[in-house]
Amino acid sequence: MDAIYETIKYGIRSDHDDTRIGEMPAFLTDEMLTKEQINDVAEYVLSLSEEREDMAAVDRGQEDFMENCASCHGDKAKGGRDFGAPNLTDAIWFYGKDKDIILRTISRGRNNVMPAWIDRLDDTTIRQLALYVHSLGGGE
Ligand code: HEC
Repeated sequence: MDAIYETIKYGIRSDHDDTRIGEMPAFLTDEMLTKEQINDVAEYVLSLSEEREDMAAVDRGQEDFMENCASCHGDKAKGGRDFGAPNLTDAIWFYGKDKDIILRTISRGRNNVMPAWIDRLDDTTIRQLALYVHSLGGGE
């Protein structure tokens, strides 16, 4: 409940000191992975929510995932709260489920911003919103 309240108040990735920081790195641009490795890791990510044919690529991708992605997305790719990294196994995509989109996300990164509402909503409204989100299951 408090975490939701703070998130709405300060947003994610704004300049505020208390802001939640989270950024999806650019693995190709920053030369952390090769094109082939990114293809494998995309196959692995897709295999978590649908059947894939190239199981050799999925296996290779899983190794790269453990080394490069699990720190934020979690060992089982179910997402990490600390870094704002989404669950990759639930077939819910911010950017779309096409392989091209996933390749682009991994290659060039993403930097979506959750805006801060502290200057736009009063405290009572933020608290009510936090309660509402909590009631939807956001607080677990
Ligand atoms: C430093 C933490 C961090 C690391 C490391 C990281 N990610 Fe992410 N990832 C994020 C965040 C944060 C987002 C959400 C970005 C946004 O909201 O714009 C994200 C988003 C994504 C998405 C988009 C999900 C969707 O719903 O559309 C995919 C796919 C993804 N990451 C895959 C990977 C893969 C594969 C790796 C390893 C090669 C990786 N990530 C490494 C933090 C990370």
